[in-house]
Amino acid sequence: MHAMTIKPLVLLPDPVLRKQSVDIERVDESVRALADDMLETMYDAPGIGLAAIQVGIARRMLVIDCSKDEEDKAPIVFINPQILSSSDERSIYEEGCLSIPDYYAEIERPAEIVVDYLDREGKQQQINADGLLATCLQHEIDHLNGVLFIDHISKLKRNMVVKKFTKLARSREGSQL
Ligand code: NI
Repeated sequence: MHAMTIKPLVLLPDPVLRKQSVDIERVDESVRALADDMLETMYDAPGIGLAAIQVGIARRMLVIDCSKDEEDKAPIVFINPQILSSSDERSIYEEGCLSIPDYYAEIERPAEIVVDYLDREGKQQQINADGLLATCLQHEIDHLNGVLFIDHISKLKRNMVVKKFTKLARSREGSQL
């Protein structure tokens, strides 16, 4: 039995977040254990999506639960996700990120996408996502390519966010001395 663990989150401006994640060759018990830990970490935060790189592991896996508060939990594990097609139609959502706490910005992305992935059992799946799930999936798949949602805002705003989080990281280090 695997006891689930809440893992520490990697925060901006840690360069780990810019790493390119690699495909998972085989979906085995260790991969499933990581998925469970990622879900536990995401629910604890709380957040609606988390990529493995956000807990420091550069492998192509992400977890999402876009269910509403009053609904039952609906966790989905995506392994080696690939966007097969994106709609021309766009939608705008206010996004945030567990690696960039308490910062939010409106981001425009394709409104609908088709994604191919392996599930928690290693079975090939395809999902036609729209609404919040489509945005969330694109945000998390970006993470696997070292891309953050702040890369979709203006350079001026992005520089301000990075500066703020660099200062925060320094003060965290300072308080540990
Ligand atoms: Ni994120």
